[in-house]
Amino acid sequence: DPVLDLACRMPKAELHVHIEGTLEPDLAFALARRNGIALPYADEAALRAAYDFDSLQSFLDLYYACADVLRTADDFRDLMLAYLERAAADNVVHAEIFFDPQTHTARGIAYRTVLDGLEEGLRIGRQRWGISGLLILCFLRHLSEEEAFATLAEAEPWLDRIHGFGLDSSEQGHPPSKFARVFARCRELGKPVVAHAGEEGPPAYVVEALDLLGSARIDHGVRSVEDPALVARLAREAIPLTVCPLSNLRLCVFGTMAEHTLPQLLAAGVRVTVNSDDPAYFGGYLNDNIRAVQAAFAFDAATWQRIARNSFEASFVDAAQKAAWI
Ligand code: HPA
Ligand code: ZN
Repeated sequence: DPVLDLACRMPKAELHVHIEGTLEPDLAFALARRNGIALPYADEAALRAAYDFDSLQSFLDLYYACADVLRTADDFRDLMLAYLERAAADNVVHAEIFFDPQTHTARGIAYRTVLDGLEEGLRIGRQRWGISGLLILCFLRHLSEEEAFATLAEAEPWLDRIHGFGLDSSEQGHPPSKFARVFARCRELGKPVVAHAGEEGPPAYVVEALDLLGSARIDHGVRSVEDPALVARLAREAIPLTVCPLSNLRLCVFGTMAEHTLPQLLAAGVRVTVNSDDPAYFGGYLNDNIRAVQAAFAFDAATWQRIARNSFEASFVDAAQKAAWI
């Protein structure tokens, strides 16, 4: 398929990837050995066999358990390098990468250790593969507002080292409104904010993310199609959605790729991007997502060009850099 080849070869930005979700089983076991700790799985095959999710929560339970092997700055650097190498191979030239400090600080790993390691990885990755990256600090929404404020306080001495803030983890029962005051403070600090919404949660959560958090993009947002007025607003206000097709399939947001709402959103004029979310857990990196979408929908070249262009337009880099890519 020449269109698929073109889509895979096109330079792209990836705007929705969790660094903890790029932890492949081989690296997880290597880090477990290096740190002298045991994973609750006998080997890589047993771990892979556990990648059989029926919901967001079933994935999150495993994702947080595996993150326990990440202990030192070198571990976070190696994790970042492994992701950037794979992203660069998919012609990703720029990535905006989520990290979940609370997953690590709760285990006694210092915020500084996480940040130092991830940044070293970004620096080496830029030299090696010419790929640029920005870090987005995500608050875990299943935890309290108070814990989010405590995390923000820990991050404040090194604010120049992160680009923005996000909101992830268990969506149902944890509406964006829970973090309205935290996000107001993040915006006061001059940072762009984004939020996961409309993945498992209802379209009303997307509206809250926009109106109460000031979210500059919506991560997932695929359930927005249930509210036509919202879809019209997303299109009118050019609000980007960072859609993750394989993630949605593996977490049973949709039963089959053919049921995915990506084509409806595109047709409505919404600024949709395609991303990998947690590629180690969901069956692939950015071009694997593109292959799965193309197998289901056979988009034309112009559609893939539109999606690649959207990824740059929706990124947080400055206008001159965007112009250079577009
Ligand atoms: N949704 C919510 N939280 C997450 C995800 C996701 O897709 N990936 C990692 N944390
Ligand atoms: Zn995500």
